[in-house]
This record gives sequence, structure tokens and C-alpha cells, in this order.
Amino acid sequence: MSDKRINYDESRVPAYTLPDPLVMIGGAPVESAEIWREYRRPEILRLFEEYVYGRIPGKLDPVTFEVTSVDSSALKGAATRKEVSVFFERGKEYPRIDLLVYLPNDRSGPVPVFEGLNFRGNITVCNDPGISATDQWMEYARESGHLAGKSVQELRGSSASRWCVDKIIRRGYALATACYCDIDPDFDDGFQNGVHPLFYREGQTRPATDEWGSISAWALGLSRIMDYLEADADINHRKVTVMGHSRLGKTALWAAALDQRFAAAISSCSGCGGAALSKRWFGETVEAINTSFPHWFCDNFKRYNGKEHLLPVDQHMLIALIAPRPVYISCAEDDLWADSRGQFLAALAASPVYRLLGTDGLGVGEMPGLHQPVMSTIGYHIRAGKHDVTEYDWERFIDFAELRV
Ligand code: GCU
Repeated sequence: MSDKRINYDESRVPAYTLPDPLVMIGGAPVESAEIWREYRRPEILRLFEEYVYGRIPGKLDPVTFEVTSVDSSALKGAATRKEVSVFFERGKEYPRIDLLVYLPNDRSGPVPVFEGLNFRGNITVCNDPGISATDQWMEYARESGHLAGKSVQELRGSSASRWCVDKIIRRGYALATACYCDIDPDFDDGFQNGVHPLFYREGQTRPATDEWGSISAWALGLSRIMDYLEADADINHRKVTVMGHSRLGKTALWAAALDQRFAAAISSCSGCGGAALSKRWFGETVEAINTSFPHWFCDNFKRYNGKEHLLPVDQHMLIALIAPRPVYISCAEDDLWADSRGQFLAALAASPVYRLLGTDGLGVGEMPGLHQPVMSTIGYHIRAGKHDVTEYDWERFIDFAELRV
């Protein structure tokens, strides 16, 4: 990017000040876990709702589900594949999440699970001919050009390297995934499609300035999937780790902050609006993200375009909202846009909250070198390579879940 407002030079990063997660807005110090839970945590959550992601403006009836297929001979007999429709509103077919679940057949009771949204449809997650190409995903794919002349057959398994389903199953975990577009298609249509219109008051045509953008909508979808997982007897619903890459890494962190049923969160290359500090001038800026993706955050967030120093929060406080639950942050060396150091520094600045709550937080004070994963309650690694999810990442995610969740 040739934009002069984008900085990739560490020596040019100016000094910045982060809000202290352990000081109330009014200046009172937060000296106990109880004060954190009762006062400071809700205060920070409200700030993120009002100024960053936007408030989800109401509640719906509990979701309803319909299991549409079960095949216990998937992945050469290693797994059971289930497909489940998760409905937001009783009696209405849309919006609807088409959930894909793989369970290890080698299990003796309910299994822990990784739950994550995928970008390009369930059929891309694994080269398994049994995964349905759903009608709603196909429609999105056509609208957005994802199909671009490709057949479903060509797309099948095309994101397999980002999910490593065989590895997840072999290590005794389930995977539950759905396409994020089932919840809200990822383009700026003034919030006419997806779940937003379900919540409009009489006469309302788009969210208010402090109401939700798409990231909050996707986070709501993750919670609705969690509702299903709680009802599935094969799943250990106390061990649900929510995982996401990039914009969906931002979403995974926000979902875990909002919904304390998630036992842990994993963010892959989540960058700006995810695990990276906004006040640190490096890589993607608030203005850049709000310009390219005006529908991701609430409108109030645009006030901070070029004015990150005025933000009442920064992303270390998002991580702190998940405390004391485990969070793992993975980064890639070449992913300058997502500011790997800024993500490390956010993890470090969240640690005092973790320690107040009786855990170790991030176990190191200096950024580790490549391929030196940190496995404390806040975990972190940076690996060689680009913005992606790789087999190396999944091996660390599973190690972390085994150790911490
Ligand atoms: C863009 C965007 C990032 C985002 C990424 C993605 O690069 O600027 O903020 O994380 O897309 O989601 O793929």
C-alpha cells in the first residue's frame, strides 16, 4: 500500500497511551476480582458496544434446529458428519445457519469442540463429497462472484488446508462450522439482508449509530450455534473453543467477550479491530478499515478515523473481557497489515486483568521469535509465512486446547 497514512516502519511508531483496564472511567482503581466483574467489565463491554462493534439491539426467541443429515462413515470411517439447520425465527426459513459438524468416531463420551465460521461455504472446508452445497450459500456465491465460473466440484475442499479436519478429528476434537454469510452476507447493502432486519423497530431501516455492524451479527451467529451445541449430547458444551481467522478472528474475540459460555477463544491473524492495538500506528488503521469495510463496525467507530488516540478503549481490553478464560493469538511474519507486534502488545497489556483473576496471563514479557509458541493462559505465536491458517497453526491450537481448556 502506498498510502502515506499507513506505517510499516517500527522506528516511526510514535508514543501512545493505552487506557488502563484496571482503572474505572471515573478514576477509581479496580483492586479486586469482584470489582472487575461487577463494575469494570460491564463498563468496558458497554464502551465496545457503543463505540466499536455496536450493540445487538434485542433478543430473539431461542433458536430451533433441524438435523438434516447424519453419516457415521465420513472421512474413511474416522468421523460422523452431521448437518444441522439452525433457525433464528420459529417458522421462518431465512435467515438460517447451515451448520456442519464432524465428530470423532473414536470417542467414549461428549467431546470438546472447535467452533468457527468459514468464508466460502461448508463444501470448501474438507474434501468430503458428502457435504451439502446449500441453496443459500450458492446464492451468495453467485451474488458475490465467489463462484466465478467454478463448479461446486472445484470448490469442494478448496479451503481444506485452513481447517485440517483430519487432524482435529484424530486428536479427539469435534469441529462445528458454518459460512458467515448465512448470518450476514459480507457486503455493504445498508443492512437489508442477513439478521439485522429481524431486529428493526417499527419504521427503522438501518441500525442506529451505536447499533451493530456485521461483526456483531456474526458474533450473534456464533452464539446461536453455541445454543445448538449445548443441545447436542455428543458435544462437551463446557469445552467449546471459538476460533476465527482475520475478520472472523475479530469476530471470535468479540463473540467470546459477549458470550461467557465460550470456554476459550482463538484468533488467527485478526489484526485491526481484533487483537491488534489501534492506538499503535502500524499496519491497518481505523480509517482504512472503516473505509474498505463500512459495514463491519458501528457507525460511531467512524468518529475515530485518524483519531485513534481519542478511542476510549483499545483492543487489549477486548482480550481482557475474555479473562480469565484462555485466549490464543496466532500471527504471521509477513502479515504486516495485521501488526503481529501490536497483537503481542495487546496480549501483554491484557495480562494484569488475567492476573487479578488468579491466572498467569501472558507468560512472557518479550515478543517470542518465530515458531516459539507461548502456551500460558493467554497464548501467542508468530510463524513464518503469510496471512493464513496453516497446519502449524492448527497443531498449536490443539496443543493449547489440550493444555488450557
Ligand atoms: C482485509 C482487512 C482486514 C481483515 C482481512 C480479512 O485485509 O483489511 O482487517 O482482517 O481483510 O478478513 O481477510
